[in-house]
Amino acid sequence: MTGSMTGMVSVVTGGAGVVGHGVCRALAKAGSTVVALDLDASRVDCAALRLDVDLTDPAACRAAVEQVVGTFGGVDVLVNMAQKAVVETPVLAVTDADLAVSFGTGPAASLRMMQLCHPSMKARGGGTIVNAGSNSGTDGTAGRAAYAAAKEAIRGITKVAAKEWGRDNIRVNVVCPWVPSDPTVDWAARKIAASPMGRAGEAEADVGELVVYLATTGRFMTGRTLFVDGGIGTFR
Ligand SMILES: NC(=O)c1ccc[n+]([C@@H]2O[C@H](COP(=O)([O-])OP(=O)(O)OC[C@H]3O[C@@H](n4cnc5c(N)ncnc54)[C@H](O)[C@@H]3O)[C@@H](O)[C@H]2O)c1
Repeated sequence: MTGSMTGMVSVVTGGAGVVGHGVCRALAKAGSTVVALDLDASRVDCAALRLDVDLTDPAACRAAVEQVVGTFGGVDVLVNMAQKAVVETPVLAVTDADLAVSFGTGPAASLRMMQLCHPSMKARGGGTIVNAGSNSGTDGTAGRAAYAAAKEAIRGITKVAAKEWGRDNIRVNVVCPWVPSDPTVDWAARKIAASPMGRAGEAEADVGELVVYLATTGRFMTGRTLFVDGGIGTFR
């Protein structure tokens, strides 16, 4: 059971991505005003405001949050979905550039957006932050060291902020989704066939609805990692 988000303002980074777009749709369907941030946010079909922002640029992030607060009066929900996934990085092959991209677009951008949205959330009496983890980090997927490190850093930041901001009624959680961008390609189809539930996740109905739940009914949940992956991960 999820609640109504009428009157709430939600900011979704990576809002044009596979999962982010579905999250935007679920939030909008629940009644929230949705702001989508992405390198190219133009394709997001349900947002009240679409902003093209490079989240590795601190000034651009600050300007975006100021625009949201100036236009809609504040921020109630921040969903950090943006991440450049650097793949093919076995531990021995990881470069400084791989780490810079992974950490710059993931934990550093997520932390920056959390810092920027905190004052508005606090002033409004609370808020909800949802960050994106991955079972590549929680399980440790061989060959994905840079990505796994970045996703686990996001979980660390989430747990610290949950403790520091709980008294501000700002709840901070992680979701680990599984929504293949193309479930028909060979590797994805094989993974789906071998998965416990025998299907891929759906961005709006599975991940988006969980985000709506966290923003409304899940008002006593913070500092947690929630897997919405049909059971494919092994970390429990
Ligand atoms: N899809 C999955 O199955 C899955 C699994 C585990 C974790 N995740 C995590 O969930 C989140 C969403 O995944 P997705 O599949 O939608 O990814 P995606 O690649 O489809 O979307 C990510 C979005 O982030 C944006 N982005 C990247 N760098 C940016 C920057 N510098 N500034 C602004 N925007 C930037 C991209 O343009 C893209 O639209 C990611 O954090 C990902 O790590 C996804």
